[in-house]
Amino acid sequence: MTHRLEDPCRELLLMCAGAKGAIASTVAVAAAELQQEARSVLSSLTTTTMPPLAAERLRLHLAGWDPMDGPLSAAVQHHGVVPAAVWQGHGAFLDALDIRRPPDGALLLADQVASIADDMRNFMARHPEARPVWVNLLPAACDPILGPDTPTLNDLLQLPAAGLAPDLAYTLAALETGVPMVNFSPNTIELPTICVEARRRGIPMAGRDGKTGQTYFKVVLASALKARALYVDGWYSLNILGNSDGRNLMDPERACGKLNNKTRLLDEILGYPVGERYDAPTHKVHIDYYPPRGDAKEAWDVIDFTGIFGLPMSLRLNLQGRDSILAAPMVIDLARWAAALKTAGIGGPVADLGFFFKKPVGESPPLTFQEQLAALDRLAAVITAE
Ligand SMILES: NC(=O)c1ccc[n+]([C@@H]2O[C@H](COP(=O)([O-])OP(=O)(O)OC[C@H]3O[C@@H](n4cnc5c(N)ncnc54)[C@H](O)[C@@H]3O)[C@@H](O)[C@H]2O)c1
Repeated sequence: MTHRLEDPCRELLLMCAGAKGAIASTVAVAAAELQQEARSVLSSLTTTTMPPLAAERLRLHLAGWDPMDGPLSAAVQHHGVVPAAVWQGHGAFLDALDIRRPPDGALLLADQVASIADDMRNFMARHPEARPVWVNLLPAACDPILGPDTPTLNDLLQLPAAGLAPDLAYTLAALETGVPMVNFSPNTIELPTICVEARRRGIPMAGRDGKTGQTYFKVVLASALKARALYVDGWYSLNILGNSDGRNLMDPERACGKLNNKTRLLDEILGYPVGERYDAPTHKVHIDYYPPRGDAKEAWDVIDFTGIFGLPMSLRLNLQGRDSILAAPMVIDLARWAAALKTAGIGGPVADLGFFFKKPVGESPPLTFQEQLAALDRLAAVITAE
């Protein structure tokens, strides 16, 4: 089915890997709410005010994969993100969503890809009027170890899956079925071969590692300090969170990608290594799993900076956020961007979506907050012009 470009992505099919996780289950409640109290969801989106994506009506279909047992409503209750008063009336909607078990992780990658691609075709056949997007909400994982040579697509498919994160199977299935990709996880899926193929096939890749809370404000503040030529001498960031993402990130190997994504961007924005005069980085980021908080994460930042004559000043920031409440609208916004880009024929990694990510994929992504907003405007203009 073809879509007219002026149709601003009103009907979408989100195929989520990690469909019963904290973020995806929150998106599922938002999909249900859109049918009844649409304002409560639409007012939290950034795309509703951005031509050509502006829309007064939006319909979301959800499908996906998760090994977690039990109905989706039980997952929503378990995560405790959305108040019962909001989700309980949507139990039937939630439990009717098609969420399948992922393929056996011990299978050859080619067999996993075939199984996921079959599921994707099946989901799309059930919703032919909706624009499909694959959304990666899998847990943070260690980077794939693929050896020194760049593998071809065929090499990749022949890999034994042991030691590979499951993200790769979903990515290759999206590539095979021509579905745009939103990688909200910190996991690397943008292998060179995959990027080349995505570009060739006109499949947009948005990613990676959603910039939801502390890092979002870090980009804003760092851009503001840079704009005033205030010199950042050190930046200490601490996070506590008690959801399963937080528990997962206690594994140093799984956390290392996320910490790198959170750390690197400050030097990139400022244009110098923070801590250069100490010969050691003074940008420190810590994440601590703290069960009492659940999804209601808290973050502290201490920012030491200097002005004229090197006189020291300091700024404190305390964010009392909600991880999945911040993330879910971004996932919907990104799915809308990805679908619109696909329709406009734009494929491969989309650096201009850097506003949404800690580690934007693609070449020369916008760094400062101002550049990131300007890049979104540029992207909107390209979509409109196509
Ligand atoms: N919440 C935020 O603010 C935020 C910000 C940036 C990035 N992220 C990333 O988004 C991702 C999702 O976050 P979350 O809080 O929903 O995590 P979560 O742990 O609640 O959910 C992950 C889900 O994936 C499922 N899963 C595991 N293996 C699977 C497989 N092979 N196939 C399908 N499903 C599988 C799990 O059962 C679980 O339900 C994580 O990688 C997280 O680091 C989150």
